[in-house]
Amino acid sequence: MLLDTFGRQAVDLRVSLTDRCNLRCTYCMPEEGLQWLGKPDLLTDEEIVRLVSLAVRDLGVREVRFTGGEPMLRPGLVSIVSACAELEPRPELSLTTNGIGLARTATALHRAGLDRVNVSLDTLDADTFFTLTRRHRHQDVLDGLAAAEAAGLAPVKLNAVLMRGVNDHEAADLLAWCLERGYELRFIEQMPLDAQHGWDRSQMVTAEEILDRLHARFALTPEGAGTRGAAPAERWLVDGGPASVGVIASVTRPFCRACDRTRLTADGQVRNCLFATGETDLRSALRAGATDAEIGALWRAAMWGKKAGAGIDNPEFLQPDRPMSAIGG
Ligand code: GTP
Ligand code: 5AD
Ligand code: SF4
Repeated sequence: MLLDTFGRQAVDLRVSLTDRCNLRCTYCMPEEGLQWLGKPDLLTDEEIVRLVSLAVRDLGVREVRFTGGEPMLRPGLVSIVSACAELEPRPELSLTTNGIGLARTATALHRAGLDRVNVSLDTLDADTFFTLTRRHRHQDVLDGLAAAEAAGLAPVKLNAVLMRGVNDHEAADLLAWCLERGYELRFIEQMPLDAQHGWDRSQMVTAEEILDRLHARFALTPEGAGTRGAAPAERWLVDGGPASVGVIASVTRPFCRACDRTRLTADGQVRNCLFATGETDLRSALRAGATDAEIGALWRAAMWGKKAGAGIDNPEFLQPDRPMSAIGG
């Protein structure tokens, strides 16, 4: 098992398949992109499957989520999913994507064994989408969402980050749009994980503010008080339910105490937290011929060292060296 000194167990593995992306969200990376990892740095498909297998078989991992960068840019995605779907016990398999390319691949992913997708969409307006992502791909995302639903990748969840003065006025419209289509919407507070270190607490649209904006149009009641568990999203029933909306308040209401995550970066480093300042190098061990037992021991030690919390509220908080696109969202 992957335990830490605060009694938490990591059962949810997030695997970043690439640090690259085909969008340039302003809260994530600069227009020119970043210094991407080179091919030899990346774990191969076989290396990823070996590490996921070991985590599921020996370390108690029950859910595997593929992230990026943009994980759909990884050519081996479908075959990685398919290999992971054959593991015993079968982990739950999900994908966090910006949706571009899903229109083409959703059916193949579902057939390969993917259970569900979370798609990022911050706006319903094509021009605002360009302002936020610097790319004209709004329609591709909408097509991707429709394809995910048609392929049976349910429930489709949507992640939205609100930026002040750009799309924060759209909160209620986004919710209405998702309710019509049966998508589960979650708003995420902007976190200090951008490559440009441009995050400014005073500009962040807080969970409280988001809820105020939604309250103007919808009646919200807390869903299953106290049952949030390890889920980052706090959920609210909309107009009495059954539909709900989530708010991921990573900054103003952190959920570190219930965290059940472990992360593997595209270059084979274990991170015990999104905000960890250190990493454990499994890739070198793997390539030096380590056994599964040796790699398992390294992974357990990495998680044992997990801190109580990310400490964003601490004045000494240090943003991690790597941006979210390189860590895995
Ligand atoms: P499900 O609810 O199981 O669908 O997954 P999820 O919400 O964990 O997955 P998703 O990849 O969609 O994550 C949504 C957002 O939650 C991420 O973009 C982050 O903003 C936030 N998040 C995910 N993991 C962590 C974490 O370990 N710490 C913090 N602070 N935020 C996280
Ligand atoms: N703060 C909050 N959310 C972010 N995402 C990317 N960067 C940030 C950030 N700095 C979101 C994406 C996507 C999810 C994986 O994380 O929009 O929905
Ligand atoms: Fe790409 Fe996601 Fe970063 Fe946007 S937030 S640039 S979609 S990795």
